[in-house]
Amino acid sequence: MPTGPQIILTLKVLVVAVTLLLLASLVALVLKRPRLHGHINTAFFVLTMLTVVVFESLLQFGVEVSTTFDPAQRQALRTHLYFSVPSALLLPAMIVTGKTRRKRLHWALAVVFSLLWTGTVVTGLGLPH
Ligand code: HEM
Repeated sequence: MPTGPQIILTLKVLVVAVTLLLLASLVALVLKRPRLHGHINTAFFVLTMLTVVVFESLLQFGVEVSTTFDPAQRQALRTHLYFSVPSALLLPAMIVTGKTRRKRLHWALAVVFSLLWTGTVVTGLGLPH
């Protein structure tokens, strides 16, 4: 069974990797390739959700990630969750509004999602491992 620090480090690597995918999908938009944007973000969606499911399963199996955290680090984890949980909840809405071409709603959600995802990455990379 992996240790807490190993899991946190792996999560950091995965978050950076999927963020590169998200950035590539925005480049596709700039290049006027909305379908490519959709394909890349479908991969982004699947990989991110898979990460969430595997991480949750490890927690269910009793792996502890925050037992060694001091109070400040626990607060940092809480702050991180304020960003990461809503971003994960928004992802299905991003896919649905993109695929059904609800442009205005997709754009509005994209603004909120971009802020939440930026917060997820910044606060996540700062966590101890
Ligand atoms: C974060 C900033 C994002 C911006 C600014 C953005 C913007 C757009 C725009 C302008 C389109 C084209 C709509 C059209 O021409 O009808 C589009 C399509 C789409 N977007 Fe996004 N999007 C973002 C993030 C996401 C995310 C995070 C996802 C999914 C996880 C996503 C999934 C899709 C899908 C599936 C399409 C349909 C592509 C197609 O097959 O035509 N987008 N997006």
